[in-house]
Amino acid sequence: MDFHTFETMTTIEKYIKKPILPSKFADLVGLQYTATVTKEHKKGKGQFFTPSEISSFMGNIASKPKSKNISILDPGCGTAILTCSLIEKLIEFDLESIELTAYETDYKLFAYTEQSLQNLKIWLAEKRVEFRYTIIANDFIEDMAIALEKHKESFDYIISNPPYFKLSKDDKRVNLFQHLVKGQPNIYSFFMAVSVNLLKANGELIFIVPRSFASGQYFNSFRDYFFSHINLSFVHLFKSRNKTFDRDKVLQETLILKGCRIPSDKVIISTSEGLKDLKKPIEKEYDVSEIIDLKSKAKILHLPTTEFEEHVMLLFKSWNNNLIDFGIQISTGPVVSFDQGNFYLTHTKTQQFFWHRYIGCTM
Ligand SMILES: C[S@@+](CC[C@H](N)C(=O)[O-])C[C@H]1O[C@@H](n2cnc3c(N)ncnc32)[C@H](O)[C@@H]1O
Repeated sequence: MDFHTFETMTTIEKYIKKPILPSKFADLVGLQYTATVTKEHKKGKGQFFTPSEISSFMGNIASKPKSKNISILDPGCGTAILTCSLIEKLIEFDLESIELTAYETDYKLFAYTEQSLQNLKIWLAEKRVEFRYTIIANDFIEDMAIALEKHKESFDYIISNPPYFKLSKDDKRVNLFQHLVKGQPNIYSFFMAVSVNLLKANGELIFIVPRSFASGQYFNSFRDYFFSHINLSFVHLFKSRNKTFDRDKVLQETLILKGCRIPSDKVIISTSEGLKDLKKPIEKEYDVSEIIDLKSKAKILHLPTTEFEEHVMLLFKSWNNNLIDFGIQISTGPVVSFDQGNFYLTHTKTQQFFWHRYIGCTM
């Protein structure tokens, strides 16, 4: 640890006058760290720290522990804010000991993570809960390709806000997961896929991730794999794209999911606009079969948030054909109209050039 880092951390302790929760401490440590690195550094590592409101929300949706001695995995832990929030919730249940395994690859961050976990340890000691932790400074995906057997079904809780960025085709990690990959994969889906095997049979997984995996062909194999092992029981959606990670100016549609390996019949879909109304989300319960067809190969996750969207979902499901049955092919992405010369000028009733403003509603 260099002098600058040490001085930065001691100032946190100086200006905290009254006791604060470990998650708040982790948040402050994260802010201090952020002031020492460039935006490019954070971006390169997919490093957007979870705001404390979201972190508390994620901790609070955890179910009652099945034992007084629990194990937690926090892959891509940052300053371990998620672990702190989870433990702040689980502590209500009279725990005796907690064993944490945290993964983080950013060496500039280690001293801050250590500071946050030491603070958590002191807080837990006051409550007479034994806390042991290990920070593993390896790539979570690569490490699990080697150490999966050792950690298989080891954790009662896996909580994560993994990095989000696309991996190039020649990335080592893509080779490890060829069977789940189509197109250019995003690292967050690998974090989710690996975690499936690390969860105990009665364990619980809580993730905040982009919602891009919920539909679309590129994630077909991933969804097939993930939903063949994990049963969703709760999904929270943020309606606004820019009101979740606004401190880091991230424009990303994210969702929070909770799942386990035990079959569940019902899923709660919860929604908020952003952070301000997160304490009063709107919730609705669905049969699992209403939002995901587990028998299908594509296993599309439907996420209606209004009655209108529910109606569209039902309408969509009532269609039994494919477009191809009607001789229609669809292609998305940029189309330059004047490059479609012949087609554009000679279109007939069955060959229409649809501009995207013609499509009034998307889901
Ligand atoms: C989106 S941030 C979230 C941090 C923290 N979990 C939170 O919620 O604030 C993801 C973290 O994962 C780390 N990371 C990136 N790639 C990783 C990898 N392959 N293995 C382990 N950690 C990684 C980044 O350095 C970053 O701190």
